[in-house]
Amino acid sequence: MSSPYLVIRDASLDDLDEIYKIEKESFPDPYPKGLLKAFLFFPGAYLVALSEGLILGYAIGVVRYETVGHIISIAVSKEKRRSGVGRQLLAKSVERLRLKGVQSVRLEVRESNVEAIDLYKKAGFLAEDKIEGYYVDGESALVMYLSVK
Ligand SMILES: CC(C)(COP(=O)(O)OP(=O)(O)OC[C@H]1O[C@@H](n2cnc3c(N)ncnc32)[C@H](O)[C@@H]1OP(=O)(O)O)[C@@H](O)C(=O)NCCC(=O)NCCS
Repeated sequence: MSSPYLVIRDASLDDLDEIYKIEKESFPDPYPKGLLKAFLFFPGAYLVALSEGLILGYAIGVVRYETVGHIISIAVSKEKRRSGVGRQLLAKSVERLRLKGVQSVRLEVRESNVEAIDLYKKAGFLAEDKIEGYYVDGESALVMYLSVK
């Protein structure tokens, strides 16, 4: 499928309802809306991708320490997947974190989430660790890193 014409911009409070809708359809254990809101005030890159004014996806990246970035979450609305939105959101998040002085970017992903793992590997992330029982249902997480020095 071809990529829709995308605008990627900083998220704002007005985007929260749409972000939360995508969050709920994307994860078995969605973040509460209040937490999605709180991340707007963290240093980093909280981005939304839009086409024709509609939010298709979002990515939350934060600066954890001066040189370490963390992709907290990335999701694309179900009907808009597989058209390059996730790839573009991830690339932009990493670039924004790099411009803030980050030298490596970390993320956790369910070990069964082959779609996301493939997305991250194609962006250059390497699985360097595993955290047993990381998620509430007991599934383990792969910890992936990307050097952006
Ligand atoms: C993971 C997710 C964000 C990918 O978004 P997307 O817009 O569909 O991804 P893209 O179209 O940009 O695809 C980029 C790459 O991701 C991988 N990918 C995406 N969907 C895939 C699928 N269904 N099967 C296999 N690989 C897939 C592929 O490597 C793809 O590259 P390709 O198109 O050259 O094969 C999306 O599937 C999603 O929102 N999933 C639910 C939320 C989630 O799991 N987020 C990750 C949390 S760690």
